[in-house]
Amino acid sequence: MAEPVVSPAGDQYLKAEPAAPAASDPYLKAEPASPTASGQYFEAEPAAATAPRTIAVNIAGMSLRFATDSGVFSPDRLDAGTRLLLLEAPPLDADERSVLDLGCGWGPIACVTGLRSPAAEVLAVDVNERALRLTALNAEANGADNVTVARPHEVSPTRRFDRILCNPPIRIGKTGLHALLATWLDRLAPGGRAHLVVHRHLGSDSLVRWLQQREHKVSRLVSRSGYRLLEVQPRGDAEAATGSGHRSPSTQPHGGAESDRAETAGGEGP
Ligand SMILES: C[S@@+](CC[C@H](N)C(=O)[O-])C[C@H]1O[C@@H](n2cnc3c(N)ncnc32)[C@H](O)[C@@H]1O
Repeated sequence: MAEPVVSPAGDQYLKAEPAAPAASDPYLKAEPASPTASGQYFEAEPAAATAPRTIAVNIAGMSLRFATDSGVFSPDRLDAGTRLLLLEAPPLDADERSVLDLGCGWGPIACVTGLRSPAAEVLAVDVNERALRLTALNAEANGADNVTVARPHEVSPTRRFDRILCNPPIRIGKTGLHALLATWLDRLAPGGRAHLVVHRHLGSDSLVRWLQQREHKVSRLVSRSGYRLLEVQPRGDAEAATGSGHRSPSTQPHGGAESDRAETAGGEGP
């Protein structure tokens, strides 16, 4: 098997963001959200030469193996933000059947969600063809039969989602990110909700302000090691008054340690 390709020295993902995290941030040191050795992880056909590898991921009591490759996001490990999202986002309610993994990468969110919630239909969307192939492969290899993959334009604009899970592609820039989120958040079903994980240094607070300007209710469910787990309600969803209120007041995070309390998202915190 090909040798793993490690991230280039000096992480371009972080370098490209002016408000780059401090070098002392243990999460980001441990989990560089790497781009590719050449090119970007969000290209349709990544320029980076393929370098397939397999990684082990232990999460939520499951020991899984995933095929990854250069040219996709975080190919050598589960990203720390993604891990936080998977551990801390409230589990799917029984009536949350239609789930979108927006920007699936090699598929950790789609596969773990599909395995945990076999009754759900999980749609994994990405612009990166290599990522889509890996997600399909990983879903099959891990027995997540309820995961399907699609390019964004292949999804009917009338399709609605009860839940959207997303570690957003901050690297595409603010304009692209806003367009992406505006498109897909407007496809939340009434009463649905989205969970986004964004690092403070990669603009979580300005993103919250933008979402609120679009009349989304936004709650910060967890704040840990600089990451924010945001819960976003559909625009004008009158019933969605508080974070994690949703349909079932009994919904609880999946069980990660030291979760902060949910709060209406506002300014900077720890
Ligand atoms: C930060 S990565 C997260 C990947 C994966 N969900 C994870 O947690 O490891 C964001 C992903 O969004 C994808 N992406 C970028 N622009 C997109 C777009 N317009 N539509 C869908 N996905 C997009 C990228 O290719 C990338 O795989």
